[in-house]
Amino acid sequence: MALLDLTPEELLTTTRSVRRRLDLDRPVEPELIEECLRIALQAPSGSNRQGWHWIVVTDPELRAGIAEYYRRSALAYLDDADRRNAGYTGDRAAIQGRVTDSARYLTENLHRVPVLVIPCLEGDVATVPPQAQAGFWGSLLPAVWNFMLAARLRGLGTAWTSLHLAYAGEVAALLGIPPGYSQGALIPVAHTIGTDFRPAARDPLETILHRDRW
Ligand SMILES: Cc1cc2nc3c(=O)[nH]c(=O)nc-3n(C[C@H](O)[C@H](O)[C@H](O)COP(=O)(O)O)c2cc1C
Repeated sequence: MALLDLTPEELLTTTRSVRRRLDLDRPVEPELIEECLRIALQAPSGSNRQGWHWIVVTDPELRAGIAEYYRRSALAYLDDADRRNAGYTGDRAAIQGRVTDSARYLTENLHRVPVLVIPCLEGDVATVPPQAQAGFWGSLLPAVWNFMLAARLRGLGTAWTSLHLAYAGEVAALLGIPPGYSQGALIPVAHTIGTDFRPAARDPLETILHRDRW
């Protein structure tokens, strides 16, 4: 499959969380996922440990099982999100409202997303001391982002999600993840409906940039 004609900067600024524009009816070619995973493996990891494992879930029953755990966790989150959003005003209120609506759509349709990727890392996060947490997750999450960028370049949409982790044990049992491995995220993957995505409105750099001292 041809890669999208994006400059590196366009790729970096338009890789959005895709939820409503996931094509739920179009299968994803397994080779495309493998290409993205090979690119993921180019990411750095602490001491070059490469302790990552990747579960690519396409089996409909397993996807439905994961989606049900996700839904249980997400419904509580979405109720809270509605309350939190009430505290925003202006443009930010509109943006947060859209994020919540989009997250609700994904919650209701996760079982229909053709591919769910669960990146895992060797080590039980519950035993990682606070000063080692950044190094632990830093040895997996850059690879996940590499995966998502590579997917975007191939016309695939992804969304970083984490809500299923409230049921990480149950999902580990469902997928046979051995003890001593931690799940870092759950990435739904599908072809996108259209390929044009825009840079997001973010809080201005000036509000969070510190020169020399905080
Ligand atoms: C660590 C992390 C966890 C996230 N968890 C979820 C999630 O469980 N469900 C979801 O729909 N989106 C989740 N998101 C996506 C964010 O809502 C999204 O990145 C944010 O709204 C900005 O939108 P954008 O990615 O399109 O720029 C998560 C993102 C990150 C980085």
